[in-house]
Amino acid sequence: MTLPEPTPTSNSGAARQWTAGEKHLITGAAALAPSVHNTQPWVLEFHDEHISLYERLDRALPHHDPVGRDRLISCGAAVENAVSAMRILGWLPAVRLRHDPAHPDEVARITVTGRAEPSDVERHRHRAISARHSHRGPFAGRAMENDLRRELLGAHTVDGVGLRALADPEEVAALARLVSHSALVLRADHAYQRELTAWTAPVREPMPGAGVSSATRRVSTLPWAGLVRRTTAIPDIGFLADRLSREFLVLVETPDDGRHDHVRAGMAAEQVWLAAVDAGLAGSLLTQPFQLPEVRAGLVEKLALSGFPQLLLRFGYL
Ligand SMILES: Cc1cc2nc3c(=O)[nH]c(=O)nc-3n(C[C@H](O)[C@H](O)[C@H](O)COP(=O)(O)O)c2cc1C
Repeated sequence: MTLPEPTPTSNSGAARQWTAGEKHLITGAAALAPSVHNTQPWVLEFHDEHISLYERLDRALPHHDPVGRDRLISCGAAVENAVSAMRILGWLPAVRLRHDPAHPDEVARITVTGRAEPSDVERHRHRAISARHSHRGPFAGRAMENDLRRELLGAHTVDGVGLRALADPEEVAALARLVSHSALVLRADHAYQRELTAWTAPVREPMPGAGVSSATRRVSTLPWAGLVRRTTAIPDIGFLADRLSREFLVLVETPDDGRHDHVRAGMAAEQVWLAAVDAGLAGSLLTQPFQLPEVRAGLVEKLALSGFPQLLLRFGYL
């Protein structure tokens, strides 16, 4: 691809006016990012020098996500997709995470620093954006190659985020116990379930921010792969552990549990998920069990984590 010359308004490729086509590509890529309950809790603002991503507090989930952790993880995934689209357009972006009391809902500012052809990896990741979706059902029996597992564990470039593959049978059994506990607690929580029902109302083709696709309800929502509802059957822990042990499970952790940690966790998760899709895998992202403080504390203890668990990715072949 030959890059078009920067527009006359640009200053060495840094300051510029965004064309309608560029805005469309960047906004469209962000809209395809995974988000908690498909709330798509972000909005992009285009400025000559930069793009700002703001979190949408009006899409809060007070029962599922009282501190807004999942909202910021979702925003991180959207930042990543916006960056990917900018690279396809030939712009070199620099991401700065924001915490400005004057603009408390500004999550990230993406500044254009120059121009460069996208690499093959960047092209592949961008193609994966529209192919990625949450697969909550079981995977086929085919085992994942160790090289691919290693490749995915190294597939992100976000500082301050650690990835931890869960393969040890004792760790998987501990995870099964914690997931089972959270399923029982959240299934019985009426306020939590009312909120979940509102965001999983039947919609054939979900509109942006319109809630989780109806496809999720067709999958038997076993508690390791989907969203536990009032009617979800909760299998015994041995069964759960067996099923978990056949998936490639990756825990995403951060050294602290602040706003920027959550955004970074989302950025890294999206990079890894897109790499997995590009490698022919399907997957999904879970935080539902992590909503309970005792589950997060249990993970820290049982997996001897040095940081804070933010989310779980599961991958496999279809
Ligand atoms: C922070 C975050 C938390 C999520 N937690 C869960 C979860 O616990 N269970 C689940 O089934 N899906 C979960 N998802 C997936 C979303 O429901 C999904 O991304 C959204 O419905 C859009 O669908 P898509 O991923 O197929 O594009 C989560 C996504 C994000 C970004």
